[in-house]
Amino acid sequence: MKYNILIVYKSSTGFTQKYAQLAGKETGGRVVEYRKATAELMSEYDTVVFGSRAYAGRIDGYQKAKEMFQKSGAGQLVVFVTGATPNTEEQVIKDFWKQNLTDDELQKIPHFYMQSGLCYEKMSFADKLMMKGLRAMLKKKKDKSQEEQMMERMIAGSYDISSEEYVRPLISYLKR
Ligand SMILES: Cc1cc2nc3c(=O)[nH]c(=O)nc-3n(C[C@H](O)[C@H](O)[C@H](O)COP(=O)(O)O)c2cc1C
Repeated sequence: MKYNILIVYKSSTGFTQKYAQLAGKETGGRVVEYRKATAELMSEYDTVVFGSRAYAGRIDGYQKAKEMFQKSGAGQLVVFVTGATPNTEEQVIKDFWKQNLTDDELQKIPHFYMQSGLCYEKMSFADKLMMKGLRAMLKKKKDKSQEEQMMERMIAGSYDISSEEYVRPLISYLKR
């Protein structure tokens, strides 16, 4: 028997997990952590949602999730991404999708971006180091572009700009 929705999430500091759980609660979808997901599990569902974080311009874990989905034969893949970039940065988000999805995927895979924030307290040691390097590099740089200035402000400390409202478009799509 095929079930309806499986939501697979990959989360390091909790933002993606929170959005995944909200979507699961509202749609009755089953919510499963990425490390527990398999192609066999996906094959039991009509729709597989993969949620992850933006990670240095990439969707963390997307290639592996996509391979699992393709192997599973499940019907529809949906992707959502959380990130520190505010939703208002429409061009940045558009470019992000273009970098991560092929033209074909942009057409066929419904994709949703949700602003979240940054949480240094829960970040892994490796991620903290990466952010430290980025902060040092930006601090040193002269003649920073507008984007670089924005990024410098954005990564200075922890903040939470997540909200239930940002998961609504995904929920509406899943309930359609
Ligand atoms: C090393 C690193 C790189 C990141 N790169 C981006 C990025 O390219 N774009 C963005 O919007 N946010 C970026 N972020 C912020 C995360 O995507 C954001 O905090 C995300 O919601 C974390 O999800 P999680 O709490 O589920 O792990 C980055 C964070 C870290 C630690």
